Amino acid sequence: MKQAGTLLDLVDVEIGIPHPRRDTLVIVRKANFSVNYGEMVGIVGESGSGKTMVCRAIIGTLKRRGAEVIGGQVNFEGQDLSKISESTWKSLRGKVIGYVPQSALAGPNPVLTIEKQLAEALENTDGKGSIKERSKELLDLVKIRRIDTVLRQYPYQLSGGMRQRVMIACALATSPKLLIADEPTTGLDVTVQSQIMELLKEIRKELGTAIILISHDLALVDDVCDKVVVMHAGATVEVGGTGSMAKPKHPYTIALNSSRIDIAKPGGELITIAGNPPSVGEWMAGCRFALRCSYKEADCAVGEHPPLFGERGGHQTACLHADKI
Ligand SMILES: Nc1ncnc2c1ncn2[C@@H]1O[C@H](COP(=O)(O)OP(=O)(O)OP(=O)(O)O)[C@@H](O)[C@H]1O
Ligand code: SF4
Ligand SMILES: [Mg+2]
Repeated sequence: MKQAGTLLDLVDVEIGIPHPRRDTLVIVRKANFSVNYGEMVGIVGESGSGKTMVCRAIIGTLKRRGAEVIGGQVNFEGQDLSKISESTWKSLRGKVIGYVPQSALAGPNPVLTIEKQLAEALENTDGKGSIKERSKELLDLVKIRRIDTVLRQYPYQLSGGMRQRVMIACALATSPKLLIADEPTTGLDVTVQSQIMELLKEIRKELGTAIILISHDLALVDDVCDKVVVMHAGATVEVGGTGSMAKPKHPYTIALNSSRIDIAKPGGELITIAGNPPSVGEWMAGCRFALRCSYKEADCAVGEHPPLFGERGGHQTACLHADKI
């Protein structure tokens, strides 16, 4: 029976890079969102907004980048992942939580055949049948054809879309409750992108796996996900349900929406978002979007970055003046 309720809940998560002589460099502050069992949640935001670092906090690999969770909670099935030991991580990472990293296209080990990679992923897992039979089942699950041939091949012999399917198959080997796919379609052509999206949707439907999908494509995420999380300069600025990003309430999401190439008029000017996001270590007082915001008022540039207003689980916006938009 499929489980219901909250699987993952990030509450005011703060990620920093401690430095022995200087102050901690804060790269994420006020990351807030939740994922229900079996839910597909998309995270969008410009480059550098903190999407990958938030994923690393959920998969427990921040230390590999010299970073750590320095505030808030990363609650997963009732335990705060920011406080667990490395030995507890070993029972979760790549097992209960699967990860397809951002560089996955280059990801499969180039010197191992697909059969060997799947065998490694299936090591120490339970299931019916031999490792080879289960490897074949996994390739079938991710809709790979000519399975016997593919098992003997090396990653360089596969197309980008096939390599991405193999990475997804490896991440699914342990039947995770949560699968994180960090920009799984970057670098793939449009047709293959939509096939990978279809695959993720089917995995969610057939296996009941909750999925976090990171993307730069707001329209795509709003189309395929149950919930959209928008990040800007290390903070969650808007969270909304399916279709809600067609009518965003945060000025940053509005700007992201207007700058989409697919809605630009042929021959017309491409709308871009004014300015750049503030660099980490250079966040100003108040709202971190203030320097780029055409709705800003005097109170926007003082105090803390605005919290998310609205009911958790409903549409939430981190803007002091969303009611006027
Ligand atoms: N080891 C590090 N030292 C200093 N800054 C870092 C380090 N790792 C990440 N950052 C900074 O943290 C911020 C968030 O990075 P992150 O990789 O999460 O962004 P992202 O939203 O995934 O971007 P992209 O869309 O380009 O993948 C960036 O500004 C990045 O420069
Ligand atoms: S809080 Fe102010 S500056 Fe920030 S998004 Fe809202 S209106 Fe713009
Ligand atoms: Mg990233």
